[in-house]
Amino acid sequence: MDAYYRQTIHTWQSVRSGRGMDWDLQPKVFKYYPHEFAPVPLDQLSALHDFLQYSCGLTAKKVYPGGTYSLRANPSAGALYPCELYLQARGLPGLTGGIYHFEPSSGNLRLLHTLAAEEGIEGYYNSADTAYDLVLLISAIYYRSSWKYGSRALRYCLLDSGHLMGAVEAAAWIQGRSCSLVTRFNRKQVQDDFGFENQELPMVMVTCGEGRGQQVVRPDMNLPFISGSGSFVGDPVIESAFQEMGESSECRPGTAGTPYTAGPNDLAEAVLHRRSIRSFTGKPITVDEFEKVLHAAAAGLAIDCDEPLRLFVVVNRVEGMEPGLYSGDGHCRRSGDFSQLAGYLCLEQALGSESAATVFLVGDCRNYLPLMLKAGLIGQRIYLASTLLGLGCSGIGAFYDQEVADFLETDNPVLYALAFGR
Ligand SMILES: Cc1cc2nc3c(=O)[nH]c(=O)nc-3n(C[C@H](O)[C@H](O)[C@H](O)COP(=O)(O)O)c2cc1C
Repeated sequence: MDAYYRQTIHTWQSVRSGRGMDWDLQPKVFKYYPHEFAPVPLDQLSALHDFLQYSCGLTAKKVYPGGTYSLRANPSAGALYPCELYLQARGLPGLTGGIYHFEPSSGNLRLLHTLAAEEGIEGYYNSADTAYDLVLLISAIYYRSSWKYGSRALRYCLLDSGHLMGAVEAAAWIQGRSCSLVTRFNRKQVQDDFGFENQELPMVMVTCGEGRGQQVVRPDMNLPFISGSGSFVGDPVIESAFQEMGESSECRPGTAGTPYTAGPNDLAEAVLHRRSIRSFTGKPITVDEFEKVLHAAAAGLAIDCDEPLRLFVVVNRVEGMEPGLYSGDGHCRRSGDFSQLAGYLCLEQALGSESAATVFLVGDCRNYLPLMLKAGLIGQRIYLASTLLGLGCSGIGAFYDQEVADFLETDNPVLYALAFGR
């Protein structure tokens, strides 16, 4: 995956030789299945309705001179929302056992396939597993993002998917459910059976609740291709990198930790009110606030491939802490005021310099797909932990890759950055 990473780095020159966007080819942000697939309105009071709203429901509207724009519970690079959410429900009250697509715009489901007793999307796992009451599949329609960001967009699709996983984790936390992430499954078969063709990339599955101890086989399903972006221009760099990413090397599973100490009502409030901050006041935060945010980032994660990921933090304004470059465990690596440099490294975005702290996530490319998903999930925890404390946060996907790595003195790729503060 090193090759894809290197091919898509930002340099001072590359961002200035910019590619324009073709507005005639602007992709759509919602995928709609046609009426042959029955719409299934969800009872507004049901737990599943709330679960989906907390995961990726529409939570705000933004009005621009050109129109109105919906923002969601999950953040997205450039608000382009490449991710789609599918779910398999089994034994849930009032719902036919089946595979559904979730439409964030209406809050409804569409029934895509009714499950036979022995069928389940658990059958796509590399190792046959037991059946669950609720399984989610997150995919990414990459052109929604590559229209603007070119080949670098695959990074954003992975991070966005990770954020959505993090939003699902929070939804599960609010409802007292357990959830577990599956990154190793037969992606090619899912792409074929769901009719995704080369346009929609299956990223990750999430199982919720306890297994039923019943083995299932993959569904006998052959869904038609439905375009989720309207226009589409293929990107061979993205498609071949994604194919390669599916073949992961050995890695260890992770176990769930405790990212949030807040009660379910407070966390639900935070989920529904989370936004990306656009500018900071420049006022400091306390050490306690700083530590709470980093605690959420460091908590364990139930995932089948838990790649190690390192955090570096540029502390700009934290009361009682010397400004400098820190490791995620709070160890000061170099003291000094690096705030201006941090802003420059984040592609000259003031967010990086005016924050209380700017975090850089670093890992190696061995298992790039699960690693990037994990980086996005940690990003979502940093957003929600900040929101719970009344602080602002923003993801920063655009940075000068090599210059950040040089500053951090690491040979590993820089995956993602986030800024938080007040
Ligand atoms: C992976 C990722 C990368 C992002 N990169 C940037 C960035 O470089 N600069 C920025 O101002 N916002 C960035 N954002 C924030 C998005 O612009 C924001 O999520 C989107 O506009 C939706 O707004 P909301 O988060 O308030 O719902 C990023 C978000 C994500 C998830």
